[in-house]
Amino acid sequence: MAQAQEAPIAPPPTVVIGDVPAEGGMALLMVGADTTPEGFVEVLRSAGCEAEVVTITSGGAFELYAPAAPPFANASFPAMLEAGRGVLVRCAEPTVVDAHLLRLVSKDRPLPEGFVPQGLTPLSSELVMPGGGPAYLTEEAADALAQLIEAGDRAGQELRVRSAYRSYAEQVATYQYWVDVLGEVEANRRSAVPGHSEHQLGVVADVTSASVGWELEPEFGETPEGRWLKQHAWEFGFVESYPQEAEAITGYDYEPWHIRYVGKTHADWIRLTGLTLTEYLAQVDVDLD
Ligand code: DAL
Ligand code: ZN
Repeated sequence: MAQAQEAPIAPPPTVVIGDVPAEGGMALLMVGADTTPEGFVEVLRSAGCEAEVVTITSGGAFELYAPAAPPFANASFPAMLEAGRGVLVRCAEPTVVDAHLLRLVSKDRPLPEGFVPQGLTPLSSELVMPGGGPAYLTEEAADALAQLIEAGDRAGQELRVRSAYRSYAEQVATYQYWVDVLGEVEANRRSAVPGHSEHQLGVVADVTSASVGWELEPEFGETPEGRWLKQHAWEFGFVESYPQEAEAITGYDYEPWHIRYVGKTHADWIRLTGLTLTEYLAQVDVDLD
């Protein structure tokens, strides 16, 4: 019987940098490590791009990382360029994948008045922490979260949901709770004013573990469960909205428990660019109103 071949060792990442021309018409893209140049061109075509690769890896390694399809065009990503990740291609008709997941919600950007997400669905009680009440997310976020939590279970990291969708009215009560406990200044570092909470989108979950008594505390980020979450959330399309030492950008203190579903493509880009979700969404600037 033939011996199983060992998987080839992946070549080191290859740096590709090109200038984004002032007149636009180009997209900055990254491609999967396991993607061939031919496969990359196919991906571009299926996303509505004229697959004319302008700049591509040297040495034929083609070891640029990332999404299954180009999320958007005419983007300027200084961080990504500085990091040396990316390839420039000409896009005839730029496509934004998962655009509906890219609404920026922040202290400066409220949700539209009366916003209620479509397709809210109850989470299976197995995903919710012991003693937790019913929790809802949009169907796609609920499916992805179930996969994330099941993967955690398989890895011996038991993560469960403490809080998920919150209506405007529920955020009124949540925010008021924090104002009563912490006073307004500290509450504003921890809780969103009603109409400004990502929880109202229906794609956010606060997840925690028994090792912090199912509480939402910064220490969660240093638990094995919290560390596993930080490492693997992107694989399921989730990002941490409020990372450590990013309060000047996000407006909120560190919340290692608060994860938002943006789909795998964008979660991967965010990870690779090192941008915060806030910065990334501001750069993509999808008009969803
Ligand atoms: N804790 C986050 C900022 C919220 O209230 O949405
Ligand atoms: Zn939260």
